[in-house]
Amino acid sequence: MTHLPPARPTLTEALIAPANAQPHHATSVPIFQTSSFLFDRYEDMAAVFAGHSDRFIYTRGNNPTVAELEALIARLEGCEAARGFASGMAAVAAAVMPFVQAGDRVVAVENLYSDAFRLFEVVLKKFGVQTDYVDGSDTEAVIRALPGAKLVYLESPTSWTFTLQDLSAIGRAARAEGVISVIDNSWATPLYQRPAEMGIDLIIHAASKYLAGHSDTIAGLVTGPKALIDRINHEAYHYLGGKMSPFDAWLVLRGMRTLNLRMARHMENGLALGRALLAHEAVTALRHPGFGPHPGLTGFGGLFAFDLDCSVDIARFTNALRVVKIGVSWGGPESLIIPAQAALGLSGAANSFQRFGVNARSLRIAAGLEEPDALVEDVVNAIRVARR
Ligand SMILES: Cc1ncc(COP(=O)(O)O)c(C=O)c1O
Repeated sequence: MTHLPPARPTLTEALIAPANAQPHHATSVPIFQTSSFLFDRYEDMAAVFAGHSDRFIYTRGNNPTVAELEALIARLEGCEAARGFASGMAAVAAAVMPFVQAGDRVVAVENLYSDAFRLFEVVLKKFGVQTDYVDGSDTEAVIRALPGAKLVYLESPTSWTFTLQDLSAIGRAARAEGVISVIDNSWATPLYQRPAEMGIDLIIHAASKYLAGHSDTIAGLVTGPKALIDRINHEAYHYLGGKMSPFDAWLVLRGMRTLNLRMARHMENGLALGRALLAHEAVTALRHPGFGPHPGLTGFGGLFAFDLDCSVDIARFTNALRVVKIGVSWGGPESLIIPAQAALGLSGAANSFQRFGVNARSLRIAAGLEEPDALVEDVVNAIRVARR
């Protein structure tokens, strides 16, 4: 009897699924810290180059530790194939570059992650690829922009405004128009959002965030249908060279063994903070997908934004935090905050904060894994200290 993998594997099912036997029956996947692999005979090497064998040759192409992680993310997202990259941004670049050329048009959602925006505005523009930005919450506007585009780039929710997109409607319309759909799914993780089930073609993870989960590595993944991953292989992966290292793959694999536990706590902490902020008179806006309609999401990341009114000195508020640390990134055990005011100091035409008008009263907070009460107390106390 043939055992088909479950259509929607849980993390446990994905972790145990085809259970590649590890050397010496190791419980944890070993780190194959090697640049290349040896052949016993001329014929063995010739067979690999002729495509008659899938043995490993060179780690920039394939490595057993990285391959384990690639297989895991593909299973978890319900996709056929995956590739590992040196960073989330290397994954973003590799998911876009093979599918566009000079004269092509890309549709992207407004307010997307700032460096993805800069990839479109600094790199792709230089090579003659134009990007049109559309409000992702306006599904009709996204669909209207699709005809004639090569690729639609989504991030649900977006990075500072936490705007959701209707992935099913956009995925369906993109397929009808022959437009490749790509999503950055780092915030929701495959535990809380399965874009492939909603018709999205390629799924990106900044594995530096929740998948690795310990603020100790930078890594990225792209998963999707084999035909598209093959194109990434043939037109980007080997030549752009932004390959995930075996050690980084091992860190992500290790992190993923506790992904379900950590995500539950990130969600709990994000919601606890969101509730406390929503109830506070100095808070004028809360941008958290859990406090509005959220079709397609079965849970929430702990990253969100809020605005403080003018009664609060934002620098003083930030400095009064004790549990929450000041820092970029998110997805690790510690809670982190970025005040938009500090980030608005960035200059240049490709500054997405200015381009998309992130409010100077906004702060982005990444809820970590601390006790929820300690986090809430820290933030409420810092507001009190910083009120004029
Ligand atoms: C939503 C999102 N996507 C992608 C990235 C890029 O990931 P990396 O820093 O691993 O390149 C980030 C990083 O902050 C991010 O926040």
